[in-house]
Amino acid sequence: MSPCHSPRHYLQFSDLSADEYAYVFARTALIKAKFKRYEMHQPLVDRTLAMIFEKHSTRTRLSFEAGMHQLGGAAIYINTRDSQLGRGEPIEDAAQVFSRMVDLVMIRTYGQDIVERFAAHSRVPVINGLTNEFHPCQILADVFTFIEHRGSIQGKTVAWVGDANNMLYSWLQAAAILGFNVHFAGPDGYGVDLNRAGYPVSAAEQAQLRCFTDPVEACVGVHLVTTDVWTSMGYEAENAARLKAFQGFMVSEAVMRRADPRALFMHCLPAHRGEEVEAGVIDGPQSVVWDEAENRLHAQKALMEFLLLGQIDS
Ligand code: CP
Ligand code: NVA
Repeated sequence: MSPCHSPRHYLQFSDLSADEYAYVFARTALIKAKFKRYEMHQPLVDRTLAMIFEKHSTRTRLSFEAGMHQLGGAAIYINTRDSQLGRGEPIEDAAQVFSRMVDLVMIRTYGQDIVERFAAHSRVPVINGLTNEFHPCQILADVFTFIEHRGSIQGKTVAWVGDANNMLYSWLQAAAILGFNVHFAGPDGYGVDLNRAGYPVSAAEQAQLRCFTDPVEACVGVHLVTTDVWTSMGYEAENAARLKAFQGFMVSEAVMRRADPRALFMHCLPAHRGEEVEAGVIDGPQSVVWDEAENRLHAQKALMEFLLLGQIDS
């Protein structure tokens, strides 16, 4: 093991600077190109990643586990149901123990405070694999996917239609750091909370944001249209009320037609066709959802490498 006394964490998208993102995106492209050539890239031989899941996952688990294996290391899956974490062991104690045995920890949980408390007591880098408040790894992959298809995202406009959830707030952080605009359209009661408890939307983020009541208006001329489920994990009790409230906020083919003709469509998945997105959009020619999912793998490999080794040139 290689205890790191000032670990670099990735708990929110705002944890890296624009320059660091430029580096991580360049590494992502390099790591992806090597992967496509079946060329080994193993800078993390003998390193171990612990993945703690308190919520369901397909992509996050697959991409971190496969990614760490491909980097030469190993990954251990732990869920809170059958570990002592589910029996009340303090998160601070768990952080001490985990970080003496592994080199890197990824956590998917409920409150952002949980990943923050874990990180505060960890000797090794901690990555947010989704909380109620943020999903930075997904936006890392999404921005990379946009750049891959369309070049720089600076100055472009991203439309978010639907729930102001963990994805949207991470998009806002990315917009402030990377210099693009966000158009938001959602129903009353589910809009952007500028004063969100503990995680208010910064002045720099607000400067990039325009809110609309009509999804069609929000999408006029934009370069990327994106959405997500109406009910995120942890909010299932609100499902019936949300289904009703979000009627009219589907990304339909009619909505997509108002965007720039070269606009892309993204969805972090899993998706509900016929609810937040029409099948003709997610399965249509502007959709890049499979690239987006695949890029979780490559972007997170670059992120893990960066958090453990810093900027390298090999
Ligand atoms: N997009 C995403 O994080 O997918 P999973 O919930 O399957 O990990
Ligand atoms: N907003 C969704 C994203 C799932 C990947 C959720 O938190 O459930």
